Amino acid sequence: MKLLLCVTGGIAAYKACELTSLAVKAGHEVRVLMSRRAKDFVGPLSFAGLSGHPVFSDDSEQAMDHIELARWAEVACVAPLTAHTLGKLACGLCDDLLSTTLMALPAAKPVVLGPAMNTQMWEHPVVVRNLGWLQELGRYTIVAPVAKRLACGDVGPGGLAEPAELLAVCERRFREATNLTLA
Ligand SMILES: Cc1cc2nc3c(=O)[nH]c(=O)nc-3n(C[C@H](O)[C@H](O)[C@H](O)COP(=O)(O)O)c2cc1C
Repeated sequence: MKLLLCVTGGIAAYKACELTSLAVKAGHEVRVLMSRRAKDFVGPLSFAGLSGHPVFSDDSEQAMDHIELARWAEVACVAPLTAHTLGKLACGLCDDLLSTTLMALPAAKPVVLGPAMNTQMWEHPVVVRNLGWLQELGRYTIVAPVAKRLACGDVGPGGLAEPAELLAVCERRFREATNLTLA
């Protein structure tokens, strides 16, 4: 499976390192695409080392990267998905490489979303509406966050789902998409 892992700027960005490692060990090809903000949380070198490939980001952007990445990927996973990038995705805003690539993905390609945020943010009606809207579109698989003690000290939903679960969902969606293509 060719997995495009999109990492946005949340405290759970470090867990995307584990997801990268698990995916590579499972024999998948992984390319990591980071938002500008994500790089404040985890250095691109960690992802480059774990995936074995340079990281894509606004700083390294080449002409048509968004189209080429969208064509290359068989599955895209956004983990962690911030409230900010969720809002952009729901509104069709494409102001960086990550959001533009997500918009350029062909409709048949599965996109798995792993939202992670503070509980108040997670329960905010705008976030609820944005996720509901994406779910209605039928193109996105949302892996719900877990309830736990969050980094901000709150206890409640908002923690990123476990990397192993996110990978399992990506693999399942990939198998389903491949079977559909072959059928
Ligand atoms: C320490 C810290 C932790 C943050 N954690 C989260 C988070 O877990 N989820 C979230 O939605 N936003 C979080 N934010 C806010 C995002 O970093 C901010 O909305 C940013 O604009 C997201 O940009 P991006 O979606 O392009 O990566 C955090 C901000 C700070 C300073």
